[in-house]
Amino acid sequence: MQNCPRTMSAETYRDPARFEAERRAIFARSWQFIGHARELSAMGDAISANIAGFPIVAVRAEEGLRAFHNVCRHRAGPLFTQDKGNCGGRLTCAYHGWAYDLEGRLRNARDFGPAQGFDPRDFSLLPVRIAQWMDLLFVHIAEGGHDLEVHLAPLGRRMGDHKLMQTVPAGRRTHDIACNWKIYVENYLEGYHIPSVHPALDAEIDSLKYEVTLEGDVCFHAAPLRDAATQAVYNGLWAFVSPNLGVNVYGHGFMMERVMPLGHQRTRLIYDYYLTSEIARDPVQTEKILNMSAHVTAEDKWICEKVQENIEAGVYDTGVLSPRHEQGVAWFQRRVSAALS
Ligand code: FES
Ligand SMILES: [Fe+2]
Repeated sequence: MQNCPRTMSAETYRDPARFEAERRAIFARSWQFIGHARELSAMGDAISANIAGFPIVAVRAEEGLRAFHNVCRHRAGPLFTQDKGNCGGRLTCAYHGWAYDLEGRLRNARDFGPAQGFDPRDFSLLPVRIAQWMDLLFVHIAEGGHDLEVHLAPLGRRMGDHKLMQTVPAGRRTHDIACNWKIYVENYLEGYHIPSVHPALDAEIDSLKYEVTLEGDVCFHAAPLRDAATQAVYNGLWAFVSPNLGVNVYGHGFMMERVMPLGHQRTRLIYDYYLTSEIARDPVQTEKILNMSAHVTAEDKWICEKVQENIEAGVYDTGVLSPRHEQGVAWFQRRVSAALS
């Protein structure tokens, strides 16, 4: 019989100091999905992201992709203020108008005036690593860590032949949840709650045959579709890429689900949908897929917010994890604890 692991302590989910430590130890030290290569196809195309409080901008420069902290070197103003667009060849600060080229070099400190000892070469934007895997773009704030290829290799082995590449961007939805990001991730990492929390999803998949497999930085969940669910939205495969990315595979595409902390009790889910062009052209089918995930998310939001409230109540410290159903949660908690130790 397998051991029954204890959960992390309640303090882990409600302590603002703990969240500050996680920003640096986890979010700055992992590959973070930021978008699709199509969004950075022309020179000057740019996308921004906020990764646990680190504002990032990624651009298509002459020599390839570049990413920087979206923080001006003058007095910390913002450079690129849209979600995506084209910056016109210069990243220009919205505060006093300093302009940087797409390599991050300061080209014009607008009307700064004569200033002894001021050398623009000392004020380049602070770079961030960026890499592409298939058509998906990721950034890594701190030095070190795995190469992106190694990080995502299990995903390639399991899903490489799944129409990941024959899809087009089909929209974004965001959902804000009043809970710690780890509560949402842990909920994502087990199917134990499906019969109680998601009756409609439970009708599509056979949750009794739900299987969790761990491979490197990825945790796979699979459940066979029920015979009657021939019109199912889901394909029965979900991957979670440590520390905060869900890859939800559908019958006609997939959705990248970012779990982004906004604070120790606030989390934003960013859902980017990629569907086959045939389905993406059909508004009825696209709506059906978006509505199904919105429905499941509303159910998860409800339960995760209740759990956060109960954690805040201060009567619960630690619990236990089922070896049969919650080995994904135990895996995640081991990784979080190791990153912080
Ligand atoms: S803060 Fe950017 S130009 Fe002043
Ligand atoms: Fe759920």
